[in-house]
Parts: sequence; structure tokens; C-alpha cells
Amino acid sequence: MAKVFITRTIPGDEAAQVLAAAGHDVETWAGDMPPTRAELLAALSSADAAMTMVTDRIDAELLAACPSLKVAANMAVGYDNLDCAAGDAAGTWMTNTPGILHRTTAELAIALILSATRNIVASDRDTRAGGWKTWSPTAFLGIDLHSATLGIIGLGEIGLATAEIAVAFGGRVVYASRTRKPDEEKRLGIEYLSLDDLLAQSDIVSVHVPRTPDTLHMLSSEQFARMKQGALLVNTARGTVVDQDALVASLRSGHLGGAALDVTDPEPLPLDHPLYSFANVVITPHIASASTQTRSRMAECAARNIVAALAGETPPNPVNRPTQPRR
Ligand code: GLV
Repeated sequence: MAKVFITRTIPGDEAAQVLAAAGHDVETWAGDMPPTRAELLAALSSADAAMTMVTDRIDAELLAACPSLKVAANMAVGYDNLDCAAGDAAGTWMTNTPGILHRTTAELAIALILSATRNIVASDRDTRAGGWKTWSPTAFLGIDLHSATLGIIGLGEIGLATAEIAVAFGGRVVYASRTRKPDEEKRLGIEYLSLDDLLAQSDIVSVHVPRTPDTLHMLSSEQFARMKQGALLVNTARGTVVDQDALVASLRSGHLGGAALDVTDPEPLPLDHPLYSFANVVITPHIASASTQTRSRMAECAARNIVAALAGETPPNPVNRPTQPRR
């Protein structure tokens, strides 16, 4: 029986059923916190497969210490926690969960956009603190999404799903992306811009790029300076795509009008971090894909990747390509 280690408790029964049907022996880390590095190394030292989370780093050191590990199946679409080159060299498959969480993530992006444009979180906080003394003609004035320009950076499946919802609000939707998508421009009525033009023209900028070496601190002081006075930043991608010190500086100077962040650098963001001091900043704890249905389907997808790799097949969603897969 192959040994499969799942690094956190996962929702739904589907993944367990897929692994049981393949006859695998499954162990799940029961802690509320992720295994520490030492605990992860120990747990995977004799495992054949791992279902990993964004909080687990799978690298050359771990693969050397876990010689039977044939597949690390990330229960996530992003895989910056997996060292794919190390997987290639070691013969370990690495996989992700595309095509599942894009609409759920887009829904959270839209929720954060509306929180930022309409002060939902700030006004709720104020109301609970006794601030609602009367109806006010001037309190919590936001901006209209239906007449704003929304700039989407990255038109992969999540950026596209966000654009699909956003166009229903009736404002202008523009995007910047490595690959221009004329068919989507026509279908949705969205406009392609260079990143600089998008930053200069958008009232709200929503980030949807994967975290690669190219996107580290893709938004820093120079980019924030290009953005409109009072513009809003929404990030549901990865915290390190944004230079957070530069973001704090721009918010502090009053140039940016607010931010709504589902991802930060680091995660969790320490409670004494200056970002918490701004009333116009919303922070959620990396929950963009967190619906019961989507997280269950992500786990099931990771399980299917494990079953295929352990059967000696190319898994359905590889993010690397080992030349000599471990047997
Ligand atoms: C979550 O952040 C994911 O990449 O799926």
C-alpha cells in the first residue's frame, strides 16, 4: 500500500474516496497549525505522496530527505511553495489545481473591490464602535464602480473570471497581461493597456498574476506613484507581488486611497504591522478560494493527481516535468 500524507485537515469526502478507491494508506496531519519543517520532513520521510498546502515548502532539501516521495500535489492553483526544478531533478511530480477556484477567487476579488469602493468594512467597524449617531450626507463616501475604471493585472483564469463579473457593473474594465487576448476583449468589451497605462488610468487596480521571479515586487514605489491620487489596490494573488513597505508609504502619504488584501507578506501579517493602522485597508486571511464546494473540489483534484502519479502515469495537472519519475 502506498503511503499518502495530507498536510492539513481537508474539507469534503471526495478526496478520501478517491484515495481509498485506489487502495492507498492515508494519514492526515491533525494539527490546526501546519506541520513545522521538522515535522513535515519526518512525516514525509517514508511517504510515497503528499497533498501539500501553500504553507508547505517542498524543495531539494526535503526531496533528498524523503527518497520515496513520488508526488507533491498542491491543494492550490499557485505553486510558488514548490521548487519545480528540484522536483524535476529528484524525479518527483509536482501538481496544482487549475480550472477549479477561479470563479470563487474572482468572487472574493469583487467583494474586496466593493469593500474598498464602498467602505463596507470601515463603516461596519465604526458602527460597532458606536459611530452611527445619525444618517449622514457626508460619511463614508465611496466611489461608484459603475463609472470607475477597473484595472486587472493578469488575465489568466482568475483575472478573466474577475473581468467577467466586473463588466456587469457597467464601468470601464481594462487589463494588462503578458498575453493579449483579443477574443476576450471582444467578448467582454474590455481594453488591453500596457501596465503603465493601466496604472495611470485605473481607479481600482486588482492583481491576478502568479508569483514567479518576474512578479516579485511588481508593484512598488514607482508603480504606486503612477497610480491615480486616491486609487485603490486589491490583491488576491500573492503578498510578495506587492512591495508592502512601498504600499505602506503610499497609503501614509495619502496618495493611494486604500487597499484590500487577501494576501500579505508575510502570512499571517504580524499584528503590529503598520497596514493594520489604516482605516482604509481591509485584510482577509488568504481566503479567496475558501468556499466549501471549491476547497472540496481542490482536494479531490489533488487526490486525482496523486493517484495518477502513483500509478506511474503523468498526473493530470503537472507543474513540472521530471525526466526520470521516481518509481
Ligand atoms: C491559493 O492561494 C491558491 O493558489 O490556490
